[in-house]
Amino acid sequence: MEVIIQKDEITATTFVAKIIAKKLKEKPKLVLGLATGRTMEQVYAILAQMHKEEGLDFSLCCTFNLDEYVGLEPDNEDSYHSFMRKNLFNKINIDIRNTHLPNGMAADLAKECADYERLIIATGGIDLQLLGIGSDGHIGFNEPLSALRSRTREKALTPATIKQNGPLFKNPSMMPRRGLTMGVGTILESKQCLLLATGVEKSSMLARAVEGPITSMISASALQLHQHCCVVADEAAASKLQEQDYYRWIFQNEPEWADFRK
Ligand code: F6R
Repeated sequence: MEVIIQKDEITATTFVAKIIAKKLKEKPKLVLGLATGRTMEQVYAILAQMHKEEGLDFSLCCTFNLDEYVGLEPDNEDSYHSFMRKNLFNKINIDIRNTHLPNGMAADLAKECADYERLIIATGGIDLQLLGIGSDGHIGFNEPLSALRSRTREKALTPATIKQNGPLFKNPSMMPRRGLTMGVGTILESKQCLLLATGVEKSSMLARAVEGPITSMISASALQLHQHCCVVADEAAASKLQEQDYYRWIFQNEPEWADFRK
């Protein structure tokens, strides 16, 4: 795992958008794993701006989102389908047929999840998986005690997640209590993971996920098992990390990041 600390939210977010843009230029048929949530809104705004101003091309790119609520129609304004269209897909030149999210309205949810896994594999696997971290340490909707080998499945949401995401709903009491999510095992099979954390409220959980023991109580800690995982945090989110100086030193000296240090 590598930790990159950036001064503030906008520099951390821009950093992540630049990594995605670089990958997309290197591989136009990139299979990109996407997340939703407040942290991602700014990443998608920057990617949309890069498309508009610099012609960043998404025409061959294929995407798989981590999760979706059970019981929301894709055109429900609180669904993750809507979030993705509003924040990214409607603003770039992606072929909407190449975008994928689990369908929380499927008649057979177990089959929907198994089909989703098969589709990821048939597409060649995820090249780069973008991740946020929840207040309970989840990635996707992998709530505490999600098996480290779990696959895409239905999951009951924790009170912490309901508290975190409820305010994003027009009517918070209508927030579904269940979601479909890629599993921790599914995420770990991505070729590269990129987790973005911003804000002081993420600092304790980020420190536990990055520097604490690997535990299914904090799904994000499973990323320590990944061979190519990069965590980008702003100063506030990184403030409880023990080895900040070491992480900064690595970033300043790694040739891989030369273009990003400018
Ligand atoms: C949503 C997802 C979640 C969020 C996490 C952080 O698709 O994958 O794990 O990334 O809940 O959400 P925000 O960014 O709203 O704090």
